[in-house]
Amino acid sequence: MAQQRLDVVTIFPEYLAPLDLSLIGKARRDGLLDLHVHDLRDFTHDRHRTVDDSPYGGGAGMVMKPGPWAEALEHVVAQGSAGEAGGAATTGAGEPARVPTLIIPGPGGERFTQQVARELADEPWLAFACGRYEGIDERVYEWAGERMPVRVLSLGDYVLNGGEVAVLAMVEAVARLLPGVIGNAESLVEESHEDGLLEYPVYTKPAEWGGRHVPDVLLGGNHRAIAEWRHEQRVQRTAERRPDLLPPAAASTALVDLEERVATPADAPDLQVLTRACWAPEFARYGMFGAGEEDLETVRAGIQEWDTRVWRRDGQLLASFRVRPHPTQEATWQIGRLMVAPYLQGRGLGRELLAYAESLAPEDVGTFWLNTGAKSTENLRMYKKAGYRVRPGEGEFPGTVDLTKRRSPA
Ligand code: ADE
Repeated sequence: MAQQRLDVVTIFPEYLAPLDLSLIGKARRDGLLDLHVHDLRDFTHDRHRTVDDSPYGGGAGMVMKPGPWAEALEHVVAQGSAGEAGGAATTGAGEPARVPTLIIPGPGGERFTQQVARELADEPWLAFACGRYEGIDERVYEWAGERMPVRVLSLGDYVLNGGEVAVLAMVEAVARLLPGVIGNAESLVEESHEDGLLEYPVYTKPAEWGGRHVPDVLLGGNHRAIAEWRHEQRVQRTAERRPDLLPPAAASTALVDLEERVATPADAPDLQVLTRACWAPEFARYGMFGAGEEDLETVRAGIQEWDTRVWRRDGQLLASFRVRPHPTQEATWQIGRLMVAPYLQGRGLGRELLAYAESLAPEDVGTFWLNTGAKSTENLRMYKKAGYRVRPGEGEFPGTVDLTKRRSPA
């Protein structure tokens, strides 16, 4: 099995001791990781083993001197040809890697992400330079860049006292991707950030704890339902906690950023697809699709009978609703088929659409009317929050309820 070589240069070699523990420690003992820690002070020549000095131009703190860094990195690079201390790293093709890729952690670097971890896991040889104080003399970056690939990487937008903690995090994130380090390769595929979504919530025994219950779907053994539930949870979590991770089209939550049109029969196929996608949760609950079952003819007829609005971006249908005066109830404005593409849900677009649908009502309208699945909890929550009340009894269709709201005086 391929081995990855890691060299870490630091003034605190003991900081890296945790790399002897747990899975990373085992990977080292199994020969999958070949880790060497070097003390920067071993490359100084004065009595005090000085590695820093005051900054040119003034300012607070101290700057790491270039000389010890150049010597330390030359020593590391020499391992590639010398084959000492554990031997030279080899590329995937079995060729000796002539130089390492040098990682310099720092808050001013490119963000270290799972994608970067994957790229680094493909490298046969990584060297890490742990800066301290106000940083390393800038000429070291230039000097190193002429000899080996250099990446300045930041863990996040905050400042640590030095690069050591960042190296611990990076080595752990990279090493666990190396073949053989994690026993169960599946657990690598299913985790946060691997496919751009956060992880779903997990539970273990007991099924009831302190009055809190594990979601029923996880106890049922229906693997398809479990997979669907988990996927929904991942999308919902990502939308709530990290909307920046969702696809670029999802980045905007404002209706105004989408292009609005009155629907024509040419929109019917896309509307049919969007309706199916939006009614899929109903199918999961009731085993029937309701509006999601309509054929194209029915969808086209609906476009004729209602004022249907569609919102597209780059041609893709992302949202829609339809409105009209209620055919039998006087002064009542019917709002229907309020839909937002599933991956854009949970970020307030539905509320915006609803308010806009209400604003289209003629002046003589006193009541807004809509209909939804009796068990469609998310829809009901949104409508109630917007001031709608559930009418007593069954709604217009089996398994549904009707909701109304008095129009507030202008
Ligand atoms: N060194 C200091 N702050 C850092 C950060 N945010 N990421 C990586 N290395 C650092």
